[in-house]
Amino acid sequence: MKKILILGKNGQVGWELQRTLATLGQIQALAYPEIDLASQTSLKNALLALQPEIIVNAAAYTAVDQAEHDKERAQAINATAPGLMAEFARRTGALLVHYSTDYVFNGQGNSAFAEDMATGPLNVYGHSKLLGDQLILESGCRHLILRTSWVYGLRGRNFLLTMLRLAKEREELKVVDDQIGAPTWSRLIAEATAQAIARPHPLEGLYHCTSSGETSWHGFTAAILELTHQQRTREPRLTGIPSSAYPTPAQRPGNSRLSCTKLAVEGGIALPHWREALALCIAQ
Ligand SMILES: NC(=O)c1ccc[n+]([C@@H]2O[C@H](COP(=O)([O-])OP(=O)(O)OC[C@H]3O[C@@H](n4cnc5c(N)ncnc54)[C@H](OP(=O)(O)O)[C@@H]3O)[C@@H](O)[C@H]2O)c1
Repeated sequence: MKKILILGKNGQVGWELQRTLATLGQIQALAYPEIDLASQTSLKNALLALQPEIIVNAAAYTAVDQAEHDKERAQAINATAPGLMAEFARRTGALLVHYSTDYVFNGQGNSAFAEDMATGPLNVYGHSKLLGDQLILESGCRHLILRTSWVYGLRGRNFLLTMLRLAKEREELKVVDDQIGAPTWSRLIAEATAQAIARPHPLEGLYHCTSSGETSWHGFTAAILELTHQQRTREPRLTGIPSSAYPTPAQRPGNSRLSCTKLAVEGGIALPHWREALALCIAQ
């Protein structure tokens, strides 16, 4: 059995990975403070002690707005740490599985970004994640980078759970309708990961991996309300607003569409339409 190390086991994706990877090897799953990715010593010690053959890094500094004022920490966790993992993987021949984001792009235009298109992050989080990708790609290690978007799930801090709470508390929900992307269930990202590494020759390279279809945060909210209306005694009013009416410390891309054709063609992996996946998640 291969030794598989999952980092960030309590995060949205990390939590799901513990189950989906369970049949593929001998799992070691760690979370902060057992391991602190902001500390190079902590990470190096864990890698040396555990000697994983597959490292699955689902840990990240994901507080996008907070990162604007916490650049060094975001960079340490999202760039320096994956760089060290890549260095370990290159030396030992381990496979490094890592997750990246639509926020590495500048959000211009209205067509989907492919893996080989120019990046141009608009915020500190996006910059730190892009640097992490680059350090892995330049290291020469065996790697699988899955770039995903708008992650939600059954636990953790995410848009679905926030909207379900606000729908009960508020009479009106005002939600941004000019950012377009694909909401993606963390469980399906974990399933795609398992499918990619379960084969005799695991999939390697940089791939976009989101649900198919597209919507705005407003459209996502409308679907959430529609699929859960039986849970409430009254429905909130839903109003679309432009991003300019909801200022945040970090600028967000207007166009977060990622083309997942490469993953489908080379990996035979395609995530269902975001609406179908949302219905499955809510049914859980
Ligand atoms: N969330 C999204 O919408 C989104 C979109 C695109 C890409 N991604 C990428 O997808 C991957 C998984 O995201 P996610 O949504 O599952 O993230 P998440 O739910 O925020 O989980 C991230 C995990 O990383 C852990 N972590 C943070 N700092 C750490 C440190 N110094 N040492 C060790 N662990 C630390 C967190 O621990 P604590 O719980 O203790 O803080 C948390 O459990 C990330 O690479 C992220 O960049 C996410």
